[in-house]
Amino acid sequence: MDIRPVFRDGLKLFMLDQRLLPHREVFLEYHDAAGVAGGISDMVVRGAPAIGIAAAYGIALEAFKAPDSELFQDIGRAAAILMASRPTAVNLAWAVNRMVRTAGEAGQMRPQAIRARLLAEADAILAEDIEMNRRIGSFGAALLPDRCRVMTHCNAGALATGGFGTALGVIRAARNAGKDISVISCETRPYLQGARLTCWELVRDGFDVTLITDNSAAWQMASGNVDCVIVGADRIAANGDTANKIGTLSHAIAAGRYGIPFYVAAPSSTLDASLPDGSGIPIEQRDPSEVVSFGGVRVAAEGVSVANPSFDVTPAGLISAIITDRGVFKPGPDGYRF
Ligand code: MRU
Repeated sequence: MDIRPVFRDGLKLFMLDQRLLPHREVFLEYHDAAGVAGGISDMVVRGAPAIGIAAAYGIALEAFKAPDSELFQDIGRAAAILMASRPTAVNLAWAVNRMVRTAGEAGQMRPQAIRARLLAEADAILAEDIEMNRRIGSFGAALLPDRCRVMTHCNAGALATGGFGTALGVIRAARNAGKDISVISCETRPYLQGARLTCWELVRDGFDVTLITDNSAAWQMASGNVDCVIVGADRIAANGDTANKIGTLSHAIAAGRYGIPFYVAAPSSTLDASLPDGSGIPIEQRDPSEVVSFGGVRVAAEGVSVANPSFDVTPAGLISAIITDRGVFKPGPDGYRF
């Protein structure tokens, strides 16, 4: 059965509470932008495309709550709240801007027609995301040999998108094409998206998946156990520099050292053409409690300082190819050109 982390039923939005996985599958219900923004910042929903989809629905739901006379002010306020919910994934701003543009274009219509138009746009963003992932999957699958051992980091699967996934979409598509694919999932400290989410998705789908600690990834590569690395992305600058979950950069450096292809898989909505390179990508700093505790138990000395950046930026020069819904981009003499 397909995993759908975000879906709507009438004017209710449902999001799978990813904080509870893999132990419990609970869908929470949302009715407005503030609620959805809270769900994004609290990590009920996470993963760049999925938070964009959720934000789009947040705006549509808010429009249905707004009085006719305040429709545009409320949409603007909803957009601001949602934009502020997490900083790194550009899909969030991409989706919010698309919704605000849609409202503007429908400006002469009756308020109820504007609301319906916004709901249809959010539905389209969700449907297009799944379609883009399928395309990423078929482009990426061609890069993987048969009997391929793929390492991945964090969760760039169905849970992180409208469905099917980006990095895990490539893995799924390769298996659907008849290839024998096994997966090494890095646990992804400190939030454990790899251990909790990627393993849940892949075990559920019957994949051969091995969980490793992040700090053993280079050793797995050095030992000849990895044929390629595929990760997702939160924001890709115009030159191909890529922000993704903290730890991605270490894997790219190690893959380069051992001559292992390092692939990024992402939809067009993750490309940020406004940034010439990765130096301008905002990096979310998360709460120290994620680092000083493990499973709710304090493991570090009281009083220690903590640095907890949630993302890092992998320079384009370490990326063998970027797999998008528009095709596979490889660096030319001048680097990446999208
Ligand atoms: O903090 P998260 O869980 O939202 O981080 C997610 C990632 O870094 C993913 O790799 C990225 O968003 C791509 S998801 C298709």
